[in-house]
Amino acid sequence: MQITLSSALLALVATAVAVPTEKRATCSKGRTTAHASCCIWFDVLDDIQENLFDGGECGEEVHESLRLTFHDAIGFSPALFRQGKFGGGGADGSIMAHSEIETNFAANNGIDEIVDAQHPFALAHKVSFGDFIQFAGAVGITNCPGAPRLEFLAGRSNISLPSPDGLVPEPFNPTDMIINRFADVGFTPNEIVDLLVSHTVAAQDKVDPTIPGTPFDSTSGTFDSQFFVETLLVGQLFPGNGSNQGEVLSPLAGEFRLQSDAAFARDPRTACEWQSFIANHNTMTSKFRAAMQKMTVLGQNRNLLTDCSDVIPVPKTLTTKPFLPAGKTQRDVQVACHASPFPALTAQPGPATSVAPVPPS
Ligand SMILES: *[C@@H]1O[C@H](CO)[C@@H](O)[C@H](O)[C@H]1NC(C)=O
Ligand SMILES: *[C@@H]1O[C@H](CO)[C@@H](O)[C@H](O)[C@H]1NC(C)=O
Repeated sequence: MQITLSSALLALVATAVAVPTEKRATCSKGRTTAHASCCIWFDVLDDIQENLFDGGECGEEVHESLRLTFHDAIGFSPALFRQGKFGGGGADGSIMAHSEIETNFAANNGIDEIVDAQHPFALAHKVSFGDFIQFAGAVGITNCPGAPRLEFLAGRSNISLPSPDGLVPEPFNPTDMIINRFADVGFTPNEIVDLLVSHTVAAQDKVDPTIPGTPFDSTSGTFDSQFFVETLLVGQLFPGNGSNQGEVLSPLAGEFRLQSDAAFARDPRTACEWQSFIANHNTMTSKFRAAMQKMTVLGQNRNLLTDCSDVIPVPKTLTTKPFLPAGKTQRDVQVACHASPFPALTAQPGPATSVAPVPPS
């Protein structure tokens, strides 16, 4: 009996191995994916590339969509649950489902614009808000040369409760406070730096509301490592009309420096992770990808989600190398990692770099 059973099992195993792998599903325009249920995302892809990201640009909607992936997901606190309180649902789309509550949180100032812009797309394609937000972020950055191809998992429930206030870090929060907030969701200090790679394609709107769209590095349309170079340069000026809460001196006209970015760049706990990205674009993008893989499933069970990563386009490639902005020398770098030498960078030629918009004449 025992023998019969095991040979039957063996036969089963043999059959399973012999059967060719499940046929890939063919979706619109002949594109293929590993799971038929992922086909819908090709249609979402076409629509948002054309109508949300202006035909495939790495512009403001991409910056804001990437920001939104974080502001939705970080609304999650195991510490609150341990206290018997509701700690939020993480990457559950609650920031869109309950936008009238969550977009009024101080730390979400200005996020209502991208929530409103994305909302009709999610409704039109009948996908959950939580999935849509993460999909839009992953697709958007592929328009930025040098970005990694992020994982995209689908299947988040569309049912959510509003996140509690106070879970989204603010740029004026002390480093320890931000580190504690991230520790609550299982991120190490270095993984905060890995997520901050996002600031290579980012800009501020509401820290200084008089200069919306002021970028954090001189190349906010490329997924390069300039953000990690330029945050270490000596600060000299305010790009707007004065110091605001969460803002510190920036090295370049038209560039904005957040207090928290300046602090993590120089904190002994994170300075070496920060510096390591400057000359190693592959490390930077693979660590960002890994951190996003964790962040996008906060509050979710990844085993219940379907891997639709093959719908995400292959990002444009980066052709530039890190540099010092024109007018700067190695002496302008405030080196904060002492375990390894600061990479040798050459300065761009020409007059001092300004990324300030040219005033209309
Ligand atoms: C998701 O929930 C919102 C309400 O919060 C609803 O308007 C929308 O139709 C739902 N989408 C799906 C796919 O169920
Ligand atoms: C900064 O800009 C705001 C809005 O335009 C204006 O009200 C304020 O007076 C300006 N402050 C300074 C110091 O120029």
